[in-house]
Amino acid sequence: MTNDAPVFAPALSPQEGTEAATALFREVFEAEPDGVWYAPGRVNIIGEHTDYNGGLALPIALPHRAHLALRRREDRVVRLVSPQTREKVDVMDLDTIGPKGTPGEVAHWASYIAGVAWSLERDGFENLPGFDAALVSCVPLGGGLSSSAALECSAAVAIDEVAHLGLAGTAQEPDDAGRARLVTNCVRTENEMAGAPTGGMDQSASLRCREGHALELDCRDGSVTHVPFDLAAEGLALLVIDTKAKHSLDDGQYGARRAACERAAEILGVELLADIAIEDLPGALERLAATDGDDADELVKRTRHVVTEIDRTRRLVALLQDGQPLRGEKLSEAGRLMDASHESLRVDYECTCPELDVAVEAARAAGAHGARMTGGGFGGSAIALVDADAVHDVARAVAEAYQREGFNPPAFLDAVPAAPAGRLACAAPTHR
Ligand code: GLA
Repeated sequence: MTNDAPVFAPALSPQEGTEAATALFREVFEAEPDGVWYAPGRVNIIGEHTDYNGGLALPIALPHRAHLALRRREDRVVRLVSPQTREKVDVMDLDTIGPKGTPGEVAHWASYIAGVAWSLERDGFENLPGFDAALVSCVPLGGGLSSSAALECSAAVAIDEVAHLGLAGTAQEPDDAGRARLVTNCVRTENEMAGAPTGGMDQSASLRCREGHALELDCRDGSVTHVPFDLAAEGLALLVIDTKAKHSLDDGQYGARRAACERAAEILGVELLADIAIEDLPGALERLAATDGDDADELVKRTRHVVTEIDRTRRLVALLQDGQPLRGEKLSEAGRLMDASHESLRVDYECTCPELDVAVEAARAAGAHGARMTGGGFGGSAIALVDADAVHDVARAVAEAYQREGFNPPAFLDAVPAAPAGRLACAAPTHR
């Protein structure tokens, strides 16, 4: 037994986030920011590794956010600082920055912010102004909760406003088509400037979610449906378990999964694996198994995960939308779909790790209705659907299992569906 209470990573309140980012900005740049913008991290409830296959995902925005205090400049210089880099401000020029692997490559974290301006210029918004910005984020870094998408999306809504692009609207009255365009730019930033070949689920969640709702995202055409997801009203909670096992989306594993899906789609003669209907899956798997490459078994497994995961996502969305309380058999079925998702990611997609599997098993054994890894995997976080009054017991059971296994202690977050990226209340821009 561990006597230590499980550690919960609190979200900064909007006021705390505004104050911290503004204070850092004043300290380093000795001026007032034009405003403070924020963007949330996310957890995905189900629909993993489906986005780049044109399938469905179902994320929520977290109350944990990146806060960016930003001031427009008259030249093309970008200066960035965070609490971790306050001793050495990153300075770059929008005229010379470029993608990873080119002479204009910029420091990793800076690429997520300055890269958005670079991408927007490629999207036709020419000659954007430079800016000074101070970042304070409470999205756990490398926790599989979209800490990098939160950076991109906070930069996107800030640049949108100070450069008068007119795309984002506000968090309360978002312009969804404009935000979809910002998503495209944030994904390009991640793919080209940071070199991580991810799909668009994280950025869509950060920019397009709604408070109290999950976002059904159809990655084929970018269309969204806001699915009511008020767990507290049902006496439930979503416990996030940050395994502290570091994951990375640019170390080749993620890209290898994506490439296998593309190969499978090509062999099957479809554009994307989402084009394979669940009824046609057995025939598709037979065809893949019959190919003579060394990777036939791998392609069978990856395809089986993607097509069954899209089906599970569709079924969970239908359950959540039937207007009935999430109790009894309906709750059990939701839990079974989450469990089956994890199993498929473990066995067929092979993107879990011991820390994720132990977290999921311990949470289930302690009474979770369902549990699964969330995000890209290979580390990062898991989620468990639990009774609201059992959150701490389940967290403690997971922490104890980690101690038995000799893993580093996990951290926990309470995931309440929160608002999308926007601007925090503070003084209006004082210039221009
Ligand atoms: C990461 C990526 C997303 C998505 C998930 C897996 O979070 O950034 O685009 O592919 O993994 O669902």
